[in-house]
Amino acid sequence: MSFRTTAIDYVEDVSPGSGALPPRAWYASSDAKSLSLNGSWRLRVAPTADAEDDSFAEPGFDAGDWAEVAVPGHWVLQGDGAFGLPIYTNHLYPFPVDPPHVPTENPTGDHLHTFDLPEDWPSEGGCVLRFDGVESCARVWLNGTDIGEFKGSRLPHEFAVGHLLKPSGNMLAVRVHQWSAGSYLEDQDQWWLPGIFRDVTLLHRPAGSVLDFFVNASYDHITGEGTLRVDSDVDGRVSVPALDIDVATGETVTAAVQPWSAEVPKLYDGELVTEGERVPLRIGFRTVELADGLIKVNGRAVLFKGVNRHEWHPEKGRALDLETMREDVLLMKRHNLNAVRTSHYPPHPAFLDLCDEYGLWVIDECDLETHGFTEQAWRDNPVDDDRWTPALLDRAARMVERDKNHPSVVIWSLGNEAGTGRGLTAMAEWIHGRDASRLVHYEGDWNSRDTDMYSRMYASHAEIEQIGQELDGGTHKRRELPFILCEYGHAMGNGPGGIADYQELFEKYDRLQGGFIWEWIDHGITHPELGYAYGGDFGEELHDANFVCDGLIFPDRRPSPGLLEFKKVIEPVSFEGSDGTVRVTNKQDFADLSAFAFEWSYQVDGETVESGSLPVPALAPGASADVKLPEPPADHGGGESQWTVRALLAADTAWGPRGHEVAWGQLPDMARVLPSVAATDGPVTGDGVITLGPASFDARTGALRTIGGVEVSGLRLDVWRATTDNDEGAEWQTGTRYAELWRKYGLHRMRHRLDGVEVGDDALTVRTRVAPAAWEFGLAAVYRWTSDGNRLKLTVSVGPEGEWPVPLPRLGVRFGLAQADGVKWYGGGPGEGYPDTKSASRVGRWESTVDGLQTPYLRPQENGARADVRWAELGGLRVEGDPEFYLTARRWTTEQLDAAAHLTDLKAVETVWVNLDHALHGIGTGSCGPGVLPQYQLHAEPAEFSFVFSEIS
Ligand code: GAL
Repeated sequence: MSFRTTAIDYVEDVSPGSGALPPRAWYASSDAKSLSLNGSWRLRVAPTADAEDDSFAEPGFDAGDWAEVAVPGHWVLQGDGAFGLPIYTNHLYPFPVDPPHVPTENPTGDHLHTFDLPEDWPSEGGCVLRFDGVESCARVWLNGTDIGEFKGSRLPHEFAVGHLLKPSGNMLAVRVHQWSAGSYLEDQDQWWLPGIFRDVTLLHRPAGSVLDFFVNASYDHITGEGTLRVDSDVDGRVSVPALDIDVATGETVTAAVQPWSAEVPKLYDGELVTEGERVPLRIGFRTVELADGLIKVNGRAVLFKGVNRHEWHPEKGRALDLETMREDVLLMKRHNLNAVRTSHYPPHPAFLDLCDEYGLWVIDECDLETHGFTEQAWRDNPVDDDRWTPALLDRAARMVERDKNHPSVVIWSLGNEAGTGRGLTAMAEWIHGRDASRLVHYEGDWNSRDTDMYSRMYASHAEIEQIGQELDGGTHKRRELPFILCEYGHAMGNGPGGIADYQELFEKYDRLQGGFIWEWIDHGITHPELGYAYGGDFGEELHDANFVCDGLIFPDRRPSPGLLEFKKVIEPVSFEGSDGTVRVTNKQDFADLSAFAFEWSYQVDGETVESGSLPVPALAPGASADVKLPEPPADHGGGESQWTVRALLAADTAWGPRGHEVAWGQLPDMARVLPSVAATDGPVTGDGVITLGPASFDARTGALRTIGGVEVSGLRLDVWRATTDNDEGAEWQTGTRYAELWRKYGLHRMRHRLDGVEVGDDALTVRTRVAPAAWEFGLAAVYRWTSDGNRLKLTVSVGPEGEWPVPLPRLGVRFGLAQADGVKWYGGGPGEGYPDTKSASRVGRWESTVDGLQTPYLRPQENGARADVRWAELGGLRVEGDPEFYLTARRWTTEQLDAAAHLTDLKAVETVWVNLDHALHGIGTGSCGPGVLPQYQLHAEPAEFSFVFSEIS
């Protein structure tokens, strides 16, 4: 045994490692013992890979003065920075690109853990030490013996260690290097977080125990029969009591079964028994195939309503516990999602167990991305360099072998954004050869050379429509393949906009088999001063700021409006209709509607006046029925009215309680009567003041001062909004970077010129011109005030002047109220809604508070607008709109919101600032993807809109 000569060549070696056992299925044994080595470990972090010799691995080494950290964990997220800090980059390598070399400055964490074997640990048999995830390269010693080193951060590695164990005082030493040759293969858009971040487990391996096995469980949708064959390295028997199956391994057996699908995830409990071990099986029968140019499961084409999921926890990084994983799955199911792409690496295996159990289609993606090579036109890309191919094949095998027994996994993905090359082809060939029962995905190869589907990310609506129509050209092979959008709807900040429009296309063209929103969760890191930190907050020399906060849920897993929008857009049942009939359509691929109960209700001016249950037949997937609604109440007072129809879970399910709403629709009945104010009062000029009905104005400027007892300040036309991440766009996007254009043209610094205050017989008219310095275009804005003595009506007329080079962010008025807290409104709610994100906004009566109206996007930006508002009450005022308007209220100005970098920068001012918008520019997904669709753009055009104000007595 020799110490003190640390050879660190392995760190920069392109090979996957040495000493580990061949990859195999990941499973929990029923009877073989295991010992979790998770817990408190000793840690010492050195600045370079060889700063310390390896004497720490020597038995008897005293680490008493080392720090203690939690394993699983990332050392940069523990110790308040004492062990280094996280780094966020999107695709740029945070070190010089000189493969396979890594910097001398290579934070290296020496980990030590001492453990005893439990008293009942068998003395016979072997033992395996398993690491489920270590970033990025580790060398391992047990009781002083060097047992090997490995790379492949999010993949398991096992070592045979039985011969090295003692009953007590075992010393496990693990040296973890932040950077290694493997880092070149792990350039995913996420935080770089070194550490032993998944479980470390010691597994007893009795003589005759199970080694590796492959459950092949297919389903014939014509006969309704399942076929099972469990191939096992060690012979044994397989039983499935519910199916009366008891056969030898390797033997094929057929039985009538219920198939597995994401909608009805039927699992059969079984057992694999070898001479030395019993292993529980959870078998899902399903057949995945490419047929008629479509991805089919059990004979039916699947429509993916998916999301890209990175593993994330705001305190623990990628060290997720089971409850957090379950929370993700439950949230997905409760929001109608049916699919997950495990971007961009295999997740903790327990997550896949949950997908099997609750029902989610999974694209399991290999731990591979070499995106940074794009900066050098992909020169030296490891995936096109044979020296790296063994590492790529090792990664493919570790994923496939670990996860092959999960029915939820229907597609293997080679990795993400790694260009193209021979190494990828080798991976695809190996995977196809090893597992013919699933399809292969990879987005980076637009010719689909190695894949079973054509996949793209962020393609525009227009382009995917062409693909749907099979007018996209491409290679002969590609033309025959189905299409998925493996990433779309970039959920960064406010948005994504336009996903309903995508869904329409997915539903219209068979070839378009859906997509996966980017992404599930904001990777914000809990921070004492900033709330949540993002890129740059740890002083990184290279970083991509809040591009890492682009999820459908906030870091604390509260749904953002984007998730609620997506839930509505992908709901399993649709309701359309008019004239007292509702057309109900089952939009699922496998299940009939028998799991749902249906309800109708009838609202007058947003208040429910009648409701009942709606008999809907248990329609087959894809089927529709016209269902008669009850007669509306005879007298409903002439108010605006509508039906709301809802689909609810009829009984408790594994993922949602009875009564949980899965889908809804609103059908208008009687139209709204617009507010009218007879101009019976006239303006009266007094000492510096003009009064009109309940209001007073500044006689010189025409500025509104009070409405009854309510003080109103700064009321004027407003076109600016705190730019959203989607307004900002990304540097590689052209044509959609509105924020830059808006600032160039001065929309954030509009000047208001007073042209005249006219006191007429029945109206006070204030004429203005609103325009930015340096430019000749502008808006003529005329405010016309009238009153019937009690109510005050403002009609704003806007006329563009000159050539407007850009759309407007918003068009409406803003004003300040001295105080406001509670807010009530009748219109769209309960959450925010913008022109292209308001599918989930439903018309009703809602209540909140000014604070409650804010959406806490991690980088502050425009948020919180309530759409289609008929009237609102706040701060002692009632406002009615003609037509409906968008309502926003906040305790800071738009300018303050715009300037803030973190939520903690927002400090409430005395005034509550209210925006009543006639129109808003859409949201789009320009932060990574197409901008605002033409129909949601707000162009400077003549417009007129009114608000009727009254004081609430
Ligand atoms: C994609 C990439 C993702 C993420 C996303 C933008 O290009 O695959 O990892 O970077 O863009 O957030």
